[in-house]
Amino acid sequence: MKLRTAMTFVLALGISGVAYAADPIIIKYSHVVADTTPKGQAALKFKEIAEKLLPGKVEVQVFPNSQLFGDGKEMEALLLGDVQILAPSLSKFSKYTKKLQVFDLPFLFDDINAVGRFQNSAKGRELFTSMEDKGIVGFGFIHNGMKQFSANVPLYTPADAKGLKFRIQASDVLEAQFKAVGANPQKIAFAEVYQALQSGVVDGAENPWANIYTKKFHEVQKFITESNHGVLDYMVIANAKWWNGLPADVKKGLSQAMEESIAFGNHVALTEDDDFRAKVIADKKAAVVQLSAAQKQQWRTAMKPVWAQFEGEIGKDLIDAALQANEKAAPAKKEEEAKSKHHSKK
Ligand code: LMR
Repeated sequence: MKLRTAMTFVLALGISGVAYAADPIIIKYSHVVADTTPKGQAALKFKEIAEKLLPGKVEVQVFPNSQLFGDGKEMEALLLGDVQILAPSLSKFSKYTKKLQVFDLPFLFDDINAVGRFQNSAKGRELFTSMEDKGIVGFGFIHNGMKQFSANVPLYTPADAKGLKFRIQASDVLEAQFKAVGANPQKIAFAEVYQALQSGVVDGAENPWANIYTKKFHEVQKFITESNHGVLDYMVIANAKWWNGLPADVKKGLSQAMEESIAFGNHVALTEDDDFRAKVIADKKAAVVQLSAAQKQQWRTAMKPVWAQFEGEIGKDLIDAALQANEKAAPAKKEEEAKSKHHSKK
């Protein structure tokens, strides 16, 4: 009897001990790119900060390179609770919200800084709650960078792309973008792009420098046109039910880890984009094609009708806010000019 009581006691202690001390919350963070890309580095930074702030309470497992889930499966997995954090490209959300399609409109943003200004604007930040009704909560945007066209022939004008097959992400806007120049877009998961380019299933693609370099796309493409025609960025998301059910202290620590890791990823994107570009050029596997202003204008003119095509789904207000972000630099410049005039008068 005594022994049984003691055993029960030990068992109860053991069970509660296990539950308290040895049961960190497992957080799976899955993505499809390499660890060295801006998103890859942000995910690892999240793990580092979260585990430092919440020792023993959380364990973050990062799965890069579509190891756990690839395109197409990852969002369902999030909603099923099989993975807790994702950062899909903004081109991959159209099943859940049409608003994020704004980021796919070709030639909408002048550069990555304009993209950042829009993301940080009130309209941009509203997008974090645009999938609340689907059970998805957004935490922040992470840049990758502006996209470049690539193909096995040099692309100088839209006529050069006519009849070519291009791999695209699962986005109707990107489909329309390539159709606008008479090309044949094909939706292919990121994990299959290298093979599709190598085997000739498609002739070309569009990617930011970090993805081109880390996935060696430049080794299976003869030409890269420095077009900067669109953006490839991400939203970091979680399953809202899971997030809202976390203990308050864990939520607080994870919020801080989110914020800091997102800022880190953006810093990497802004500072390393040029390095990835330089590495692609240094490899001398693909020649980089530069566009004249007139050639760039031809691409813009050919692709711009896509804006009107999707305006109804996206909302004019969002497109206008994005366009305004291009101009934001102007008042700052004017202010500086005014200041320097003022100084020179003194
Ligand atoms: C792509 O499919 O090209 C990108 O969304 C991959 C990524 O996550 O950068």
